[in-house]
Amino acid sequence: MGSVLATSCVFVLIFIHVATLSALLPSCPLECLCLSQTQVLCNSGGLQEIPLKLLPPTVEHLSLTRNDFPIIKSDSFAGLRFLKKLSLDGNNISLIKPFAFRGLPRLRDLSIQHTPLETVSPFAFAGLQNISAIFLSYNKIKKVESYAFAGTINLKQLVLAHNPLLKLESNAFTGMTEIDRITLPSGIRTLEADCFNGLDTLGHLQLAFMDLRHLKGGIFRGLTNVNYLSIQESDLGNIEGDAFNDMTFVRNLNILNNKIDSIQWLNFTWEQHVGHLRFQGNHILEIPRAETLLVEVEKLTVIQNHFPCDCHVHSLLDGPLANGSMIHFVSKNYCISPLEVNGLPMSSIDIDSIGRCQEEVTRGNLEASKDSSSSAQRLSTFCSYLNLMLYFLKLLRIT
Ligand SMILES: *[C@@H]1O[C@H](CO)[C@@H](O)[C@H](O)[C@H]1NC(C)=O
Ligand SMILES: *[C@@H]1O[C@H](CO)[C@@H](O)[C@H](O)[C@H]1NC(C)=O
Ligand SMILES: *[C@@H]1O[C@H](CO)[C@@H](O)[C@H](O)[C@H]1NC(C)=O
Ligand SMILES: *[C@@H]1O[C@H](CO)[C@@H](O)[C@H](O)[C@H]1NC(C)=O
Repeated sequence: MGSVLATSCVFVLIFIHVATLSALLPSCPLECLCLSQTQVLCNSGGLQEIPLKLLPPTVEHLSLTRNDFPIIKSDSFAGLRFLKKLSLDGNNISLIKPFAFRGLPRLRDLSIQHTPLETVSPFAFAGLQNISAIFLSYNKIKKVESYAFAGTINLKQLVLAHNPLLKLESNAFTGMTEIDRITLPSGIRTLEADCFNGLDTLGHLQLAFMDLRHLKGGIFRGLTNVNYLSIQESDLGNIEGDAFNDMTFVRNLNILNNKIDSIQWLNFTWEQHVGHLRFQGNHILEIPRAETLLVEVEKLTVIQNHFPCDCHVHSLLDGPLANGSMIHFVSKNYCISPLEVNGLPMSSIDIDSIGRCQEEVTRGNLEASKDSSSSAQRLSTFCSYLNLMLYFLKLLRIT
């Protein structure tokens, strides 16, 4: 008797419970599991449309992974005013229409990963005023078009890792005024001028494994308040004159482990307020001329680089990269050429035995004739001649 009563009580309880649930959740799409009125899972449901009308309007966490949405249309989620977290991973998404996520004032986290998406089109994420993180890894993104993220004023983190991204278009990140960290994939070949424009405050940006033909002017325009910018493990090609002109207030600028064909100019002025410039582990194929280097930064570290140990090495050691500390510089940097000294520390070779370049000698000579009263200068000119003769002698011996 007692047990019968207990069993019916349980039935009644279950009945009441189901009744309450269905009252609270008047609808739950068939393909979904509504764990509560705030948490809905529609994973692997074979959905081809977003079941907006059937979702509880109170939903805060919505997962729509591994369905079959080919397109995220404009206003696809309009009305889900409480949504905080949305996952669309593993869908067959090929297009996100402009303003796809409009009407989600509380959305903080958005994940669209493992999809065939190739292009992030203009205004795709526009209007997500409260978004904090967007995860776009493991897609097929080749292109981030201008203004894709317009209006994402609270975005802190953008992850674009593991995409075949070749080009960053100008204004690609415009609108992220508070961004802390952008993670980019490797293999970028083109950075358009103004591609970082509009990033008023940037915490951390690492540009790695790029394959560029040149670092041109205007690329860094608009970077006006950066805590940490690192350009590393990349082929930078030629660093052109005004490449760094437009960046200001960069606390840490790292140029690490790159291959650099030539440096046309390297200009950092006090007005730019560059804190610590770390130039480390780079292979530089051509020594920049001393008069094209202006390195007005608070702190400078130039170590573990490989430079040609040719006749231009003297102007390198006298120039701003060595900053008056030749002994320190030669003990911390290496020769890349000529072949027989490749990889040796500069301090292990006799720098004085390397002749000065002819143009330097000629210039030195001209300067000396302007001020012939200085015997020291005459001596150095004499030494230069001697060096030059030694150089020619060496040449003769080689050929
Ligand atoms: C994905 O979408 C494309 C077109 O957008 C379609 O051709 C393809 O068959 C779809 N794949 C799957 C697995 O649904
Ligand atoms: C944005 O998010 C914060 C923190 O979660 C919240 O306090 C604020 O109300 C949100 N803004 C809107 C418009 O919902
Ligand atoms: C680099 O700075 C010097 C001195 O301020 C200036 O004369 C020169 O034009 C600058 N070069 C470039 C390419 O901006
Ligand atoms: C260059 O050397 C001078 C003198 O040793 C030093 O005061 C200055 O801080 C150095 N500059 C940089 C950028 O390290």
